[in-house]
Amino acid sequence: MDRERLLSQLSEFLRIPSVSTLRAHDGDCRRAAEWVAAELRRLGCGGIEFLGSDTHPVVWGVGPEVPGAPVLLVYGHYDVQPPDPLPQWTSPPFEPTVRDGRVFARGACDDKGQVFCLLQAIEAAGAARPPVNFRFLIEGQEESGSKVLFDVLRAEPHRTRADAVLVADMAYVAPGWPAVYTALRGLCYAEITVRTAGTDLHSGEYGGAAPNAHEALLRLLGRLKDENGRINVPGLYGAVRRPGTAELLAWKKLPFDEREFRRKRVGAKALTGLKRYSVLERLWALPTFEIHGIMGGFTGDGAKTVIPAEASAKVSLRLVPDQKLKVVQRQLAAAVKRAAPKYATASVRFLHGADPAQIDLDHPVFGLLDRAFRDVVGRGTVPVRSGGSIPVVPALGRSGAPVVLTGIGLPDDRLHAPDEKLDLKQLWDGIAVFKRFYELLGKWKDV
Ligand code: BES
Ligand code: MN
Ligand code: MN
Repeated sequence: MDRERLLSQLSEFLRIPSVSTLRAHDGDCRRAAEWVAAELRRLGCGGIEFLGSDTHPVVWGVGPEVPGAPVLLVYGHYDVQPPDPLPQWTSPPFEPTVRDGRVFARGACDDKGQVFCLLQAIEAAGAARPPVNFRFLIEGQEESGSKVLFDVLRAEPHRTRADAVLVADMAYVAPGWPAVYTALRGLCYAEITVRTAGTDLHSGEYGGAAPNAHEALLRLLGRLKDENGRINVPGLYGAVRRPGTAELLAWKKLPFDEREFRRKRVGAKALTGLKRYSVLERLWALPTFEIHGIMGGFTGDGAKTVIPAEASAKVSLRLVPDQKLKVVQRQLAAAVKRAAPKYATASVRFLHGADPAQIDLDHPVFGLLDRAFRDVVGRGTVPVRSGGSIPVVPALGRSGAPVVLTGIGLPDDRLHAPDEKLDLKQLWDGIAVFKRFYELLGKWKDV
């Protein structure tokens, strides 16, 4: 394996600022798709197509036909989250830089580095091509709701026909501890807007009698979650299914230390949330309500004495089995109306969302993944859940194929944050792991 060459290839991919949520980066998303397509062609794929969009196409590819071999559908995403706050990056987000055996860049781990890993594992097999019929669905809108891929799969459900689906967009539980995921949380992303007056008002002329939109918004948001972390959305907890005792017991044995999590990874004086549940249960098996940003009023340089007439907040709820996005959207809309002060009108606009996913590990393909990790890194996969979401996962499994959720990241990779990184050891190991996984899959007749 020529590591220098691989690293410069990956860097090329990482240099493309394919931020899918910002229109200004439409051209970059298209370029990232083209990078993926070129890479698939280089690996001998045919039938390459751009599906569903000119700017954020789903890249489809078909590996060389191997008669009788199992079909493996590989999913990944070439888009990334916005890089801000820019001043907090040690080196610029789209100028990949290696320090201490790690490559730092937006997308290094999520998900370009991991897509790269799955592709290079095919090449690593050399002339002895993996005895697998590869199909690829690499999308460009995962970080902004996956609309294009949802539309593609609704119109062409046969694209998910496979013996197994492989998704590497996750992390080890701890260094040396590879993971396989049994659940992902869902997401309900919304923008809440309150209006309190016909126009902005002079805060001296009107202050004391006129309602303030920011104050109304803060009261509303404050009412949606109490100090103990309980979310005040009527009905929200009704569909939440507690993990079984065996699963909860298994989580207790994971290499996870609440104190270290608080100090090293979060950097907080205390953790929040429902105290009677363990931190892992709060992260993996309970819904959340988070405020992402608050807009409105005056935030520029200097001072302006104004009573804002309108204010809004971007918020989201994470959902867990057996919650349903559609139901939660209705519940949130009703809760917002109820929590708004009488003098304000509140409205909710839903931006995107996803149902939670649950994966049954009964299928034998999970044994092959376990074996591949065992052979290469010396430890098999531990079953865990993810607090994060990948919107299309339930749809990827709809034709009945098992969805293998795993990955080569580490818990401290700082996804979506400044100084996102990928440890190169994880990448080199990962290439060997997936090379082994493809080999095992190919030899294995009954998938
Ligand atoms: N790769 C992540 C999901 C993830 C995060 C898995 C952490 C495991 C651990 C994915 O790219 C992601 O960030 N998804 C978004 C989806 C959303 C924007 C619809 C998320 O979870 O916020
Ligand atoms: Mn991802
Ligand atoms: Mn992400």
